[in-house]
Amino acid sequence: MIKLPALIDPHVHVREPGQIHKEDWDTATQAALAGGITTILAMPNTKPPIFDKSTLEISLNAAAQKARCDYAQFVGAGPDNAELLPSLAVHAAGLKMYLDSTFGELRLDDMSLWTPHFINFPKEYPVVLHSESRTMAAGILFAAIYDRPVHIAHISLKEEVLLIKAAKEKGIKVTCEVCPHHLFMTSQVSDEERGKKKEGRMEVRPRLATQKDVDALWENLDVIDCFATDHAPHTVEEKDSENPPPGFPGLETILPLLLTAVSESRLTIPDIIQKMHTNPRRIFNLPEQAETWVEVDENASYEIKAADQFTRCNWTPFEGWKVKGKIMKVVLRGKTAFADGKVLVSAGYGRNVRAQ
Ligand code: DOR
Ligand code: ZN
Repeated sequence: MIKLPALIDPHVHVREPGQIHKEDWDTATQAALAGGITTILAMPNTKPPIFDKSTLEISLNAAAQKARCDYAQFVGAGPDNAELLPSLAVHAAGLKMYLDSTFGELRLDDMSLWTPHFINFPKEYPVVLHSESRTMAAGILFAAIYDRPVHIAHISLKEEVLLIKAAKEKGIKVTCEVCPHHLFMTSQVSDEERGKKKEGRMEVRPRLATQKDVDALWENLDVIDCFATDHAPHTVEEKDSENPPPGFPGLETILPLLLTAVSESRLTIPDIIQKMHTNPRRIFNLPEQAETWVEVDENASYEIKAADQFTRCNWTPFEGWKVKGKIMKVVLRGKTAFADGKVLVSAGYGRNVRAQ
């Protein structure tokens, strides 16, 4: 049995308000606990998006009623909220800026819309960029010009990890995260799998990349600050429809997948602690969770099945994968929150880590 400290997922799509048929604060935080995660940071691309005081309150009120693990909520950068967001910084996980298109309405199409956010949002609070490839280079240049830290979400390409490596070597204040699906999957589909897989299930932003890209992420793990899920639940019916939305659920599979990599000597337990506890705590300025830990059985093997999951979306891209490393128990602030496959704390036990 291995005892891990409080684990943080800085990138979760909770879907409440607006799309609770996919997930809500209750099911997302149950999935988190089942996955060994004790704090989640929630993304703002909900319906409506979280982009001002009243929408932030809508999300935080729902979370206060329903969350079972600890949390904070990001606010989203829009075309005309750069003036008001600084006043919300203290109540939010940080600012999320969508510089490339993805699911939802929060997209800053024009580079002139980036500037006021880089200037106004207080430097002590995190700014997270959804940026891919050339947009990422532009975002990092903005960080250098405006001399403020930025965190790059879900990097997936060789050119991206090498860019961030070079930026760090220059002293630019940039950090980044990588998701399990970009570490363990490629866009390649074998002949055997072709046709069996419904295409929509593989839709995700950033897209799955090539083996060369996956290899570069593994070779440059020291450049990567955090592991994050980008837990993005859409129902299995939506994924199999004509117009499948991008996104994978991931809260319940991140730790077993990483522990399997440990069992294969591709990763170490200290790597997991650094990238899921120490670094996210520092980057997102998160308080210590006293009397909080996660117990895993590093020798327990099992098969990932959607039917065993707490997420409402009812599928996983890792269906049938054999993993080694199982979450046995989660203790959150002195209370056993998950054990024997059951969530044991009630809705409302979760705390807003940014509450004053
Ligand atoms: O695949 C994705 N799904 N990527 C994103 O950036 C957004 C997410 C979602 O909200 O569904
Ligand atoms: Zn996301």
